[in-house]
Formats: sequence, C-alpha cells, structure tokens
Amino acid sequence: MADNGPILVTGAAGQLGAVGRTVCGLLLDRGLPVRAMVRREDDRAAALRAVGAEVVVGDLLEPADVYRVVSGCRRVYFGMSVSAGYLEATVTMAVVAREVGVDAVVNMSQMTVSQMSIQNTTSSGQQRQHWLSEQALAWSGLPVVTIRPTMFLESFSPLAAPTVRNRGRIVVPFGRGKTSPVAAADVAQVVAAVLADPGPHLGRIYELTGPRSQDMHGVAREFSDALNREVTYSDIPAEDWERELKKLGLPEHLTRHLVTMGELHRAGRYDRLADGVERVTGRPAISAREFVSLHADEFGGRRS
Ligand SMILES: NC(=O)c1ccc[n+]([C@@H]2O[C@H](COP(=O)([O-])OP(=O)(O)OC[C@H]3O[C@@H](n4cnc5c(N)ncnc54)[C@H](OP(=O)(O)O)[C@@H]3O)[C@@H](O)[C@H]2O)c1
Repeated sequence: MADNGPILVTGAAGQLGAVGRTVCGLLLDRGLPVRAMVRREDDRAAALRAVGAEVVVGDLLEPADVYRVVSGCRRVYFGMSVSAGYLEATVTMAVVAREVGVDAVVNMSQMTVSQMSIQNTTSSGQQRQHWLSEQALAWSGLPVVTIRPTMFLESFSPLAAPTVRNRGRIVVPFGRGKTSPVAAADVAQVVAAVLADPGPHLGRIYELTGPRSQDMHGVAREFSDALNREVTYSDIPAEDWERELKKLGLPEHLTRHLVTMGELHRAGRYDRLADGVERVTGRPAISAREFVSLHADEFGGRRS
C-alpha cells in the first residue's frame, strides 16, 4: 500500500448524483491528492484535471483497468452509475483492492438494503446487486465503510423537471407514500469526510436521508416555496409510469429499478429518517426546498 498515495475516486465524471465528481473537489479542497477515474476523455475529464485531479481513464468491468487505476492508491471511493454490471464491478474492485492493499474502501450502496434479507429482496436488480455487493465486501476482509443513501433529490431532475417546468406538477406513482430524499451533495460531504480520515468509520454503515419524511404533496409544497409558484403532485398508476419510462429508451436495468422504486414508495418503504449526514459532517442534511432553490433554473426558475 502507498501510505502517501492518492485517493481513488471512481465514477468521477458524474451523470446523475455526480457524488464522485463532488467528492474529488472536496478532497482537493482539503489538500488531499486525488486520482479521478473516468470512462472516457471528455469535457468532464478536462474539468477534473483543471481543478488538480490526476485523471485516469478505464472501465470498472475490466480487471486490468481496475488494477492499473488502484495501484499506488491508499484509499478508494467505489461508486458507478446504476447499471447491470454493478456486482461484477464491485467484486472486481474487491479482488484488486485486496491485491494492492488499501486502508479504506468507501462503498456506495442504497438504503433499501437495510430492509433486505434472504427472504425479503426487491424486484430491482440494482438493489439486489447492492445487497450482494455489501456481503461480498464483508467477506473480502477489506476495511470497508458503507454508505446507504435513500433516493437522491437529484433524481427529481430527470423525473420531474420537465413537468414542473411546463405544468407545475410532479408526476410520479408514489401514492401517499412518504419519502425523505437526500441531496447527493450531502452524500458527497459524508464520503469525503470518511475518505479524509477513515479510521473512526471503518466497518460502519451510514444511512443517509434528508431532514424530513413526508408524502409527495409535502414535497410539492417545498417545490412551491422554493419556486414561489404553485407546484402540485399528481399520482399516476405504476403501469403508466413504466410506459413513460420505456418511451425514454432507458436501459432495462434502470427502468426496472425506477419501477421498483415507485412500487416501494407506494408501499411506504421509503418512509425513513436517518441522521448519517449530521453525524459524519456535523451539519444537518439540506431540505427539498433548499435543493430546489439551488437548482431553480432546472425547474423553470423562481417567480419573483
Ligand atoms: N440516484 C439515487 O436516487 C440513488 C440513491 C441511493 C443510492 N444511489 C447509488 O448511487 C450510485 C450512483 O451514484 P451517482 O449518481 O453519483 O453516479 P453518477 O452521477 O451516475 O456517475 C457515475 C459514473 O459512473 C461511471 N461509470 C458507469 N459505468 C462505468 C464503468 N463500467 N466503468 C467506469 N465508470 C463507469 C459513469 O461514467 P459516464 O458518465 O462516462 O457514463 C458516471 O459518470 C449507484 O450506486 C446508485 O445505486 C443512487
């Protein structure tokens, strides 16, 4: 292990939550050396280089790439987009991290894993793979810290921004189910704090939610407050949502995951509250209202 080696951040370009990209910036701000792994050279890679990261290109499903990027690193943040090869990538990372020897692996997971067991899984391949990945990492004997966020507030960007912009509505099949979405920026703060000083966190599982659990009418009210105009919630049947998602041409794995997320919301399984953000960072998690205020342009802007 390289005691003074860089901290590897996978999935660093960022697509949805962009936890990896934010973590890179937070670690660099602390003066820590960062190796940022991206899938390809593009503007996002150039931006990471411009802020001082060592950028490496590779595929998390290619063992030789993973060995090349982990070699020389002392710590690893492991996260990648929701995708069918997630378990394979996690096990590949575990094999390589054991071979190289690192002093911490911070693993991105999901809070639904807290509700899963052999007898009680879900129909999302992504959630099943996170559940299995956590177990494989535990068997690996690696020094692991597990991050289990609930739904990201950033998910409302692709799922709700067009309807909030055009019709002042959030249209999702969550029924009266409560939810407590967390900002990916808060998740990144937790990950960065752990990577900067992993010792006290090794072996721990951090569950992360936003500050309150409420139904989607409550979430819509926070949108209204942030945008200074009326935003309402429309519940739709799960089948209609699935049809809409299919029209978007998303990969089947992602569509299945989103459909499951809708079903679990409807069943009240996202009614959760956890204090992981405050416990690790010392600051409370940001609310839906604060998030929408920060991203008002995406949602059609704030009425003055
Ligand atoms: N969204 C939610 O509501 C939510 C809630 C809880 C937990 N999570 C978990 O958070 C994780 C996603 O985090 P995020 O939103 O921060 O990720 P993200 O913004 O989607 O970025 C992940 C990055 O992974 C890269 N990637 C994908 N496949 C790769 C491969 N084979 N090799 C190398 N890089 C690869 C992508 O590169 P390209 O951009 O170049 O394709 C992307 O930039 C998942 O584990 C998910 O289960 C999400």
